Amino acid sequence: MLNVEHLSKSYGRGKPKKAILQDINLTVDEGEIVGIVGESGSGKSTLARLIMRLESADEGTVSFATADDFYASCQIVFQNATAAMNPSWTVREILKEPLRKMKGDRDAHIREMLEKVGLEEKHLARRPSELSGGERQRVNLLRSILVEPKLLVCDEIVSNLDRLIQKEIVELIQRLNREMGMAILFISHDLKVVEHLCDRVYVMQGGRIIEESVKRDGHFSFEHSYSLMLFE
Ligand SMILES: Nc1ncnc2c1ncn2[C@@H]1O[C@H](COP(=O)(O)OP(=O)(O)O)[C@@H](O)[C@H]1O
Ligand SMILES: [Mg+2]
Repeated sequence: MLNVEHLSKSYGRGKPKKAILQDINLTVDEGEIVGIVGESGSGKSTLARLIMRLESADEGTVSFATADDFYASCQIVFQNATAAMNPSWTVREILKEPLRKMKGDRDAHIREMLEKVGLEEKHLARRPSELSGGERQRVNLLRSILVEPKLLVCDEIVSNLDRLIQKEIVELIQRLNREMGMAILFISHDLKVVEHLCDRVYVMQGGRIIEESVKRDGHFSFEHSYSLMLFE
């Protein structure tokens, strides 16, 4: 469904430019949960922005096999739920915004979807500051899935949450995958979460994908010494 080929990106005007991504190739199939792991600074968020067409690549292509509008089919959730939401808006206003082009009853659609992320109607009247960290990340998630995308890109969405809330969000992602058939590209430096959640994983180091592994019997297996070190 998603096909990334020979993607490269550099930043800066100087010569030589700093290569941030080098010859990235990856795929996500329909309904698949794919992980991307790598240390901080390895280029994961840059890759996410390129996949979402928030920035353009220097070389290579990102293609998405759908006849629908790209922006309705492919959505992203970022790590920092607080920064991603207008603090003066109520949850209802925050959730209505992505549905501005929707025909029909937007409020009814929001109420129906609330349950999918474990929120209740009482949350709709609150502002972000009146929510817990876990609730904020649920609102953030819900906002991205209201248009029922085929692919959801999650960039470190559980990284600043405590273990219990992390677990709840991970279960939520699994449920969205199962019940809505949503494919997930799950970017994280938390290898434990990735091994638990993902069917397949790519390991990034210094702007390159150095290895890919398919989960068998609940575990990934690696050959590259860097991946082995990471997962140890
Ligand atoms: N807009 C930018 N301009 C210049 N350098 C950037 C920019 N965005 C990211 N970088 C650099 O690209 C590298 C990869 O960053 P990032 O994609 O955020 O990695 P990760 O998400 O894996 O931590 C880092 O060295 C970072 O400093
Ligand atoms: Mg990042």
